[in-house]
Amino acid sequence: MDGGSAPMNTSLHRQLSGWIALVTIISGIAAGGCSFFLAFREAQELQDDQLQQVALLVGRSDKTVEPWAGITKAEERHDPDARIIIIPLGTPVPARQTTQITRPMIPPDLPEGLQTINGQGETWRLFVRTLPSGLRIAVGQPTAVRNETARGSGLRTLVPVLLLVPFLSLLTAWLVRRSLAPVASLSRQLDQRDDTNLTTLPEGGVPKEIRPFVTSINGLMQRLDDTLAQQRRFIADAAHELRSPLTALTLQAENLERSDQPQERGERLRHLKEGLARTRSLLDQLLSLARQQSSAVPAVEFRLDRLVQQVLEDVMPLAAAKGIDLGCERLEEVVVNAPADALAILMRNAVDNAVRYTPAGGIVDVELYREEGRVVFQVADNGRGIPSDEEKRIFEPFYRVIGTDETGSGLGLAIVRSIADRLGGTVTLRNREGAAGALFRYLFPPGRRRLRGAPSRIQDSFRQPQNVHTP
Ligand SMILES: Nc1ncnc2c1ncn2[C@@H]1O[C@H](COP(=O)(O)OP(=O)(O)OP(=O)(O)O)[C@@H](O)[C@H]1O
Ligand SMILES: [Mg+2]
Repeated sequence: MDGGSAPMNTSLHRQLSGWIALVTIISGIAAGGCSFFLAFREAQELQDDQLQQVALLVGRSDKTVEPWAGITKAEERHDPDARIIIIPLGTPVPARQTTQITRPMIPPDLPEGLQTINGQGETWRLFVRTLPSGLRIAVGQPTAVRNETARGSGLRTLVPVLLLVPFLSLLTAWLVRRSLAPVASLSRQLDQRDDTNLTTLPEGGVPKEIRPFVTSINGLMQRLDDTLAQQRRFIADAAHELRSPLTALTLQAENLERSDQPQERGERLRHLKEGLARTRSLLDQLLSLARQQSSAVPAVEFRLDRLVQQVLEDVMPLAAAKGIDLGCERLEEVVVNAPADALAILMRNAVDNAVRYTPAGGIVDVELYREEGRVVFQVADNGRGIPSDEEKRIFEPFYRVIGTDETGSGLGLAIVRSIADRLGGTVTLRNREGAAGALFRYLFPPGRRRLRGAPSRIQDSFRQPQNVHTP
């Protein structure tokens, strides 16, 4: 048998064994009590039968009846406990009867049959009978003696129960420990693993009741393994993405060092600055993604339409530089209870993409409204759109659609998805129906509003937009 590990002994094993032992002891007491009572009753009935049979025997040898014969016989045998006496009713006690045994004062008019009487401080059980000769006799025995004999019979029936209770308790403790051995063995296997081992636990040989638990642990292991693999890929990609611009920057710095023409130096310096700006933007996006994935930002109640206007204002210089008509088709007043910073990052990335991936002179329309209890934020552009087989992949970190002239880290939509995962709702970016270009949509729950009457602190401090074109 498996000894089991310490944690099992302190919990389930002890509890189960304790409860089963308690139930066994209670059942043992109940069973013992019943068998004692039944055996006691049975012994008394036998004693009553004995009295009747003695009375019948006396009747058959009517002539030989000698008053107080029972006393004499019992005393001769020196066994007063076994005494059954035969008393002729209405006959004086013979003078020779000098016995230490108490003789009951028996009223001569006792009815026939079995009865219990009290006489001289002692209780007697009697069977009264009239012999064919007309002589009435009582065959009797003290109840104390009878009870003692019956008690002895009752107690003897308790012996098997007394032996069985501790045996059953020990047996169940052993069985419980044996049944829980697979759990203990699984926990030992998990304890002995190192941090990198996320292989699944074997489900064969595990009891049916425990299997769902093992399946859940295996599911968790699998998810952890996937997440770790994803993180390893992300770190590798991030290292690669950082190394490329840094190599380029080093080369540009070396070129700058070598050039002595002021015009050439100016040109190379400009390249270096652009490279630095791109590297900085990559680092900003990486930090932003890491922050979104790790920290829980508190929710506040605020006017989302004002935040949308602020985001538009932030992206406006880029749109203006490309000659893109950036504006709001529909901007409803929407109050949400959510982390404002996270929503600002999400919306800025969506609008920034629409402006950057739409050719000069294009149109970008932003909308914010409520639909079936949810808030809809959408950005439509008339750019080149998204290849339909890449709709899912563009949300992966560092994924960029080939063939675009714009520079970028490929992290913007991964940040968007990470925020949407945390705030709830669905985010999509796909081609517009019936028109050229892409449509970004984020549908999300507005969050729990404050109760009416509760102090409301609607954040109202977003900057007012200057150049937003609204219809
Ligand atoms: N509105 C859009 N129209 C066409 N293509 C888009 C649009 N938005 C995103 N994309 C494509 O999806 C890719 C991923 O976008 P994402 O925002 O994740 O990265 P990025 O813009 O390249 O870099 P970053 O935003 O981190 O600076 C982009 O490279 C682009 O090819
Ligand atoms: Mg982007």
